[in-house]
Amino acid sequence: MEICSTKSRWNFKGKEEAKKASACTIRGYLNNLNENINKNDTRNVIPLSHGDPSGFPNFRTTKVSEDALIDSLQSGKYNGYAQKSVLLQATRSIAEYLSRDYPYELSSNDVHVTAGAKQAIDVLITALAVPGANILLPRPRYPAYEALATFNRLEIRHYDLLPEQDWEVDINGLEALADDRTVAMVNINPGDPCGNVYESEHLKKVVSSLHYTCIYFVKNVV
Ligand SMILES: Cc1ncc(COP(=O)(O)O)c(C=O)c1O
Repeated sequence: MEICSTKSRWNFKGKEEAKKASACTIRGYLNNLNENINKNDTRNVIPLSHGDPSGFPNFRTTKVSEDALIDSLQSGKYNGYAQKSVLLQATRSIAEYLSRDYPYELSSNDVHVTAGAKQAIDVLITALAVPGANILLPRPRYPAYEALATFNRLEIRHYDLLPEQDWEVDINGLEALADDRTVAMVNINPGDPCGNVYESEHLKKVVSSLHYTCIYFVKNVV
């Protein structure tokens, strides 16, 4: 049986919008800058753009967490698919921990564990993307939201963050963007790439400015 003939062609082609959305990444610009640093200049470069704190000794994971991880790996009990009871233990503990800061109690049913924030964004955007729907994304923003919304054929509407107001949301602009097809507004707090943290009063104003019911999804860095 001939599996691959030199004459056959792949029956797909790249998506132009997706290519455009993934072409400009902050990491790409940073790599470009880093590659162009003058190697003969002996001054220390302070890595202000370094987003992952785990490379610095003052951000070490606690020893108790490291030991718990090592113990569970070495026990040989958790190297396969998770049993429901094990997952329940984890989601219950997460719910208990998060409930300390919420005005209401979370249960294990409120917790969905993903491999990082990107998978969570993927799950949420895929679930929200129905034909004709739109999503509100901040400008400037972390690029993964735009790429995943584009892949899922959501219409993207940008609202502005105002540099002169410590990157607060331009509430007037936001009100004009949302309509009855808006399924979500992404609010990144603490802000990436701007690094700001919103006052809760500002967040309340943002939420009350949207007259349609949609999901607000926020990435908290813990
Ligand atoms: C706003 C935002 N969303 C998503 C991510 C991706 O998170 P993860 O690396 O956990 O997938 C990041 C990472 O910095 C982020 O800042």
